[in-house]
Amino acid sequence: MAEVASNLITNFKRSDEYRNVIHDLIPGGAHTYSKGDDQFPILSPAAITHGKGARVWDPDGNEYIECLGGLASISLGHAYEPVVERVIQELHKGNNFSRPSVIEREVAERFLANVPGHDMIKFAKNGSVVTTAAVKLARAFTGRKLVARPIDHPFYSYDDWFIGSTDVKSGIPQDISALTVTYRSDDMQSLRDLFEQYPTEIACVISEPEKFNVLPENYLADAIELAHKHGTLWIMDEMITGYKTDYPGSMKRYNLVPDIATWGKGIANGFSFCCMTGKKEVLELGGIRKSGNEKLFLVSTTHGGETCSIAAAIATMDEFEKQDVVGHNQKLGQLFIDGSKDIIARNGLQNNIRNMQFNWHASLGYFDHEGNNSFGLRTLFHQEMIKRGVLFQGVFCPHFSHTEEEVNYVLQAMDESCVIFKKGLEDGYERYLVGEPIKPVFRKYI
Ligand SMILES: Cc1ncc(COP(=O)(O)O)c(C=O)c1O
Repeated sequence: MAEVASNLITNFKRSDEYRNVIHDLIPGGAHTYSKGDDQFPILSPAAITHGKGARVWDPDGNEYIECLGGLASISLGHAYEPVVERVIQELHKGNNFSRPSVIEREVAERFLANVPGHDMIKFAKNGSVVTTAAVKLARAFTGRKLVARPIDHPFYSYDDWFIGSTDVKSGIPQDISALTVTYRSDDMQSLRDLFEQYPTEIACVISEPEKFNVLPENYLADAIELAHKHGTLWIMDEMITGYKTDYPGSMKRYNLVPDIATWGKGIANGFSFCCMTGKKEVLELGGIRKSGNEKLFLVSTTHGGETCSIAAAIATMDEFEKQDVVGHNQKLGQLFIDGSKDIIARNGLQNNIRNMQFNWHASLGYFDHEGNNSFGLRTLFHQEMIKRGVLFQGVFCPHFSHTEEEVNYVLQAMDESCVIFKKGLEDGYERYLVGEPIKPVFRKYI
């Protein structure tokens, strides 16, 4: 890759053509809103043609270091050879059958062996499917209606029980929205207040174990205990933390056994394999052995047992078990955090670019002189990073193919981007930003 400042990317001609047609074909132009055009500056790749390791290429042939590998689904690297090889082997044996494939047992046994205290597992192709299934199980198990989730966490599912609790309520009956209640993730009192308000009505709390703040010691254990005291199940969503905070995730790191855990993203290095694990008495509700019991229709999908994605999950486990992937990733995440802190300080931007502390998912927040979160400055910073060959969305999520050299390159690009950011801060971002600022995904109006 060329020197950072000497070779700025300016040609997005083919990307512009792509942007011009895609919204006529695909509502939103992408298959998750996070990949949409309104999440990126106009001077950016509209699509990716291919990736290898930590690099991706756009239709104009521009090369980037990608910082948030496939929205945090890439844990080993793009086109990572041992995973690709294992998938190809499996594909030659057929990809879907009318009865389960034997590989389902293999992945079930291996995954569960890593998840302390959980006895059963159910697969799906998307994270939203397993979080929704976990909520359904909790409602069936407890006979209760309400779901509690942290108001300050961004996303748990595209299904109505979650989206109905955001600002984007169109198409969702109010009766459904009213069944999801909220608390603040870092404020135990707000959870206590919720249980005081609904002492016997909450079926489950669903929460990521770690998100923006380092929680006080024992916070999660206490929160789970509080829920259990009220007969409420705890669903730990390890979609992002899984294979990142630890192997397999925060459950192990903090020695906790939630009733259900949900997994996805990095567990199959970008392949579509997600799952829910849990205690037998809960997951067994979705079974067919207890003759005479009322049937619960749990996850049931044609593609849930697709062998190539399962093979990817097995190959990913192999790599995590053979090598210290978590250690490598966190070391690079720390390098990014330490380096970016220095750069921010050197540029006098401590009040305007703030680091979040997690070395497995290091994110930045952007603020104006009044301390307001600024989408304009955010977009400007990302524009400058992208110009310098770093596909940056405000998060560095290290994976096994990122190298120290690449992190140093990202930091160098950051140093240069800070100079333009500072000008934007003083003179107004509009003077330096081409196109519109990005917009929040969860907004009432387009
Ligand atoms: C914490 C969390 N849970 C669930 C999901 C849903 O996963 P998916 O996009 O695979 O449906 C996401 C997706 O970003 C997530 O971040």
